[in-house]
Amino acid sequence: MLTIDVGSQAGEWGYPIHVGHGILPQLGRRCMELGLGPRGAVVADAALGSRVDAVVEILREAGFDMMTVPLAGGDAGKNLRSAEQIFGRLIEAELDRKSWILAVGGGVAGDMAGFVAATFLRGVDWVQVPTTIVAQVDASIGGKTAVNHELGKNMIGSFHQPRMVLTDTEFLLTLPRPERVAGLAEVVKHAVIRDDSLFTFLEKHLEEVVEMEIDADGLDWLIGRNAEIKAAVIEADEKEGDLRAILNYGHTIGHAIESVGHGMDPTSDYGRYRHGEAVILGMAAAAEIAQRRGLWSPADRRRQDALLERLGVPPGIAGLPVDRIVKRTRADKKRLDGNLRFVLPRRIGEVALVDDVDEETVRAGVVYIQERYP
Ligand SMILES: NC(=O)c1ccc[n+]([C@@H]2O[C@H](COP(=O)([O-])OP(=O)(O)OC[C@H]3O[C@@H](n4cnc5c(N)ncnc54)[C@H](O)[C@@H]3O)[C@@H](O)[C@H]2O)c1
Ligand SMILES: [Zn+2]
Repeated sequence: MLTIDVGSQAGEWGYPIHVGHGILPQLGRRCMELGLGPRGAVVADAALGSRVDAVVEILREAGFDMMTVPLAGGDAGKNLRSAEQIFGRLIEAELDRKSWILAVGGGVAGDMAGFVAATFLRGVDWVQVPTTIVAQVDASIGGKTAVNHELGKNMIGSFHQPRMVLTDTEFLLTLPRPERVAGLAEVVKHAVIRDDSLFTFLEKHLEEVVEMEIDADGLDWLIGRNAEIKAAVIEADEKEGDLRAILNYGHTIGHAIESVGHGMDPTSDYGRYRHGEAVILGMAAAAEIAQRRGLWSPADRRRQDALLERLGVPPGIAGLPVDRIVKRTRADKKRLDGNLRFVLPRRIGEVALVDDVDEETVRAGVVYIQERYP
C-alpha cells in the first residue's frame, strides 16, 4: 500500500490518499482515526451493487451509523435536481453539521457527493472511495466538486477538499473496457506532461493494463504514480501560478470534439465520445500542432501516436465539421489577444504552455486527425 499526503504549502488543507489492492476493509478504522462524526450518508453508484452494502457494513462495524443514497453513474444525472433529492434525504434523516458524506463510485459520484458535502449545512466533512480509473487518477484529487447545468458541464460547484481518499484498485477489475480506455487517456496524459518513465511503463504494459491482466502490485504502482503526479501538479500550482494548466494537455481540442460530438447526438449520455476518448483525439491533434511548431522531435511524436493507437483512437471524427470544432476550441479558450493557449509537448515527460497558436495551426491539427483516424 502507498500513501500520498497531498496538501497546500501553507498547511490550509491536507489529506492522505491511500492506494492499494483490497484495502477497503481499512475504511472503518481510518474513518475513526479521522475523528469523523457518528452519523453520515454513503452516496454511492448503484452499479456497484453489493459492494456498497459491504462499505456500509465496514463502517457499521467501526461504529458509524450510515444511511445509503444510491446514484446512477453517468453525467446525465449529475445535476441540481439529483443534488436536491440527496439534500432531501439528508434533511429527513436529520443529519447535522457533525455528520459526513462518503462518496463511493466514479467521478460522477465523487463530484455529486462532494458538491453535496460542500453545500449541505454550509459544508460537512467528506471522504472518497473512487472506483473508476478516471476517479482514482484524476477526479478524486484536487477538491473540485460540481454538478452540470443544461447549458454546460460542471458549471455549478466549489472547491471542497475531502478528509481522505481511499483508493482500492480492486474496484477496477469490474470496470467495463471502454471506461478503462477512457481512464487510461488521462494516464497517458500524465506520462506525456510529467513522467517519461511512466510512459516507458505504458509502452511495456499497456495491453495488460487495458485488459486488467496486470498484477496487483503493478496496478497499485500505476494508479499510485498517477495520483502522485496529479497531486504534485496541484500542490506546485499554488507556488507557480499556472502549472495546473498543464493538466489540460489534449483537452483544448478534446473538449471541443466532446461538445461538438455531443451536439450531434443529444439523446445519448456522453454523445459521440466519452471525455477520455475525446482527449485521445485531442492529444493526437496537439502532437501535430507541436511538431508544426518545431517543439518536439518526430521520434517522440511517433512514440505518442503509437501508444495512443494501441490504446485505441476512436473512429468517426471525420464526420464532425472542422469549422465547428475550431470555433468551439476558440469559444472555450478565449484569450485577451485572440490567440489560443495550448499545452504542447517538448518531449515525452515535458510540456510547454504556448500562447500564440493561430487558428490555421489549430485547424491543421484537427484536419490531421480527421485524415489519419477517420
Ligand atoms: N472533480 C474533478 O477534478 C474531475 C476530474 C475529472 C473528471 N471529473 C468528472 O468525473 C466524471 C467522469 O468520471 P467517470 O469516468 O468515473 O464516470 P462515472 O462516475 O459515470 O463512471 C463511469 C461508469 O462506470 C460505472 N462504474 C463505476 N465504478 C465501477 C466499477 N468499479 N465497476 C463497474 N462499473 C463501474 C458507472 O456506473 C458509470 O456507468 C465527469 O462527470 C467529470 O466531469 C471530475
Ligand atoms: Zn480530462
